[in-house]
Amino acid sequence: MGLRLWQVLGACVVALYGVVPHLWAQPTAERIGDRIVRFTDIGVRATDLEPSVALLEPRPGMGAAPADFPVEPIFFETDDNKEGFAIEIEPGTSLYGTGEVAGPLLRNGRVIECWNYDAYGYGDASPHLYQSHPWVLAVRPDGTAFGVLADTTWRVRVDLLSAIEMISDGPDFAVIVIDRDSPQEVMTALAELTGTIEMPPKWALGYHQCRYSYFPDSRVLEVARGFRERNIPADVIWMDIDYMDGFRVFTFDPEGFRSPRYTNNKLAEIGFRNVWMLDPGIKVDEDYFVYNSGTKRNIWVKSAAGTGNTDYVGEVWPGDCVFPDYTNSIAREWWSGIVSDFVRLGIDGLWNDMNEPAVFNVESKTMPLDNIHRADEDLGGQGPHAKYHNIYGMQMVRATRDGYMESYPNRRPFVLSRANYIGGHRYAATWSGDNTADWYHLESSVPMVLNLGLSGNPFTGPDIGGFAGNGDGEMFARWMSVGAMLPFARGHTGKGNIDKEPWSFGPEVEATCRRALERRYRLLPYLYTLFREAHMTGMPIVRPLFFLDPTDPALRSEDDAFLLGGDLLIVPDLTLNSDRRPALPADFETGWTRFGFDDLDDPDLPEMYLRAGSIVPSGPVLQHTGEKFLDPMTLLIALDEDGHASGTLYEDAGEGWEFRDGEFRLTTYEAITEGDSILVRATKREGRWTAPTRAVRVRILLPDGRELEGTGRENEDITIPLN
Ligand code: GLC
Repeated sequence: MGLRLWQVLGACVVALYGVVPHLWAQPTAERIGDRIVRFTDIGVRATDLEPSVALLEPRPGMGAAPADFPVEPIFFETDDNKEGFAIEIEPGTSLYGTGEVAGPLLRNGRVIECWNYDAYGYGDASPHLYQSHPWVLAVRPDGTAFGVLADTTWRVRVDLLSAIEMISDGPDFAVIVIDRDSPQEVMTALAELTGTIEMPPKWALGYHQCRYSYFPDSRVLEVARGFRERNIPADVIWMDIDYMDGFRVFTFDPEGFRSPRYTNNKLAEIGFRNVWMLDPGIKVDEDYFVYNSGTKRNIWVKSAAGTGNTDYVGEVWPGDCVFPDYTNSIAREWWSGIVSDFVRLGIDGLWNDMNEPAVFNVESKTMPLDNIHRADEDLGGQGPHAKYHNIYGMQMVRATRDGYMESYPNRRPFVLSRANYIGGHRYAATWSGDNTADWYHLESSVPMVLNLGLSGNPFTGPDIGGFAGNGDGEMFARWMSVGAMLPFARGHTGKGNIDKEPWSFGPEVEATCRRALERRYRLLPYLYTLFREAHMTGMPIVRPLFFLDPTDPALRSEDDAFLLGGDLLIVPDLTLNSDRRPALPADFETGWTRFGFDDLDDPDLPEMYLRAGSIVPSGPVLQHTGEKFLDPMTLLIALDEDGHASGTLYEDAGEGWEFRDGEFRLTTYEAITEGDSILVRATKREGRWTAPTRAVRVRILLPDGRELEGTGRENEDITIPLN
């Protein structure tokens, strides 16, 4: 018998990395799901390893791996005693994922580190941003795919220069491999392992307006009213750290934010939701109730110095701070308790920032690696910060979410987090941290959202307009127009920058921003349906073009254009003065029809195309999601070659959990061509909600650019003559 692939690869590993792979025996491989295999190094049993934090629940072994399982990692130890593995890839394999990363969609040839990091002003070469996803999605030349998860919380170096190689700073870990017929199936299998997002409240899908910081409360109201006066749709306004009293979390500036409840009520009167920031650093201050109550409960992360009983102190916004040890359930319960009181002030959503955790004035930008966490046993028990660093933010958002739920068990929490770890999408949405107001960051917001989606987190978006620096009106308009098409749409900017509300750059930019946001609100019925799909199956909301045909090499690296769900192709212009056109699917000419909402002549808005054979539900322009029920509804229809199209619409209360008991309506619409007319009707309904009687408008987009229109009511057939 000749050498097995893994032995050949092992020899290459020695040659390339000067490390010793374990050639004398094969790794242990056990099945933990349908074509999902957990590998451990020779002689290492999965039960001996640290518990998995990524997985939704522990996965017991289900027997030996299938003999023909096509992927096999080679485990090795580096000469500085680090544990690693390598998986060979056949030529033509494209690599994606690795979470929140700067640079292009395609990750071949890239090296990154999973290490949560305060990455202000990051760029293409930054090795790590704010989150850790030791996960790679590999698409083979024939379009079949596999996914690889290094199931460890420790720092992981992910090297995709010529193979898939990951090296961890920690002890032995399991490597979980999913093998599937398509990249889409890998995504749904990843969701089986790490869970899906919970349904967000519907308002969180609206436009969010933020800055560091709106101050005082009268300015918050002024900005919110500015949207209403100008008829620019928006749902949420954000309170950044200056609302606090000296950056002490859970307090309010005595002059600037005298009555948060009043502010929240005033905002609610004009249909605005509010989100307030909470950082983990707690000011060391004996006159501060949060510091005192945490100290009494002894829940701060400890320094390794001395007896290990000294609270670690690091500097953040308020000066010297201690840090809740969110890996410990007592600390989490304590935090949740304070959050639960805090949100009773009429607070709708929470923003957890600086939770890498970021520490100022130290080279590492975080706490010492030997700090001590008294982690719960099911997270791995007491251990050093090096082990818990990457899940510190994840455990913080877990506790924040629980705190919100304590006060509002019947509402859906909305938490945004800067740091997180694979699987942490179960607790929080994310944004791409402190990007810069330049064209590079505008362009890279698309691949970043795509790769986060391909790493299990579908609810993400950039700081629209860029956080660091000012930028100009042209870039802002373009950024708003593409940002409005991404799952999380929030404008934000840093301290000292010019105003960056949609009207700040003059009437022309304001008009583009209004059109961009009107598009988002018109497409909300579709977007909400996509969130439901992400919640049910783990499918990303924004998807790469190669999902259309994973065998087409031309689409593998395309990240200028993207898919919104399965039926809309979005082609933005992400560059300044360039005529670059994206690679488009082979059936682009016949399979996709351009459409707009009377906004086709705005060059700053992305081109939107509807897939032949699909029906996309849309609604009227709203100023915010609470405004009115979807009536009239407009069905955007593009027929396939057989004169047929179909699509779905998911509706529920937009809040609360009754949808879990069937309080929703999932409607399938179909269009069929019969003789010389087209018949449009609802063909299937799921859920307990009965059919509404709303007005329905039908727009049939013909390939030659013409449109046919029809009107009727939801519970009736609508017939449109073809000529
Ligand atoms: C961090 C956040 C940023 C926020 C600022 C002040 O830099 O990333 O979004 O505005 O802190 O809280």
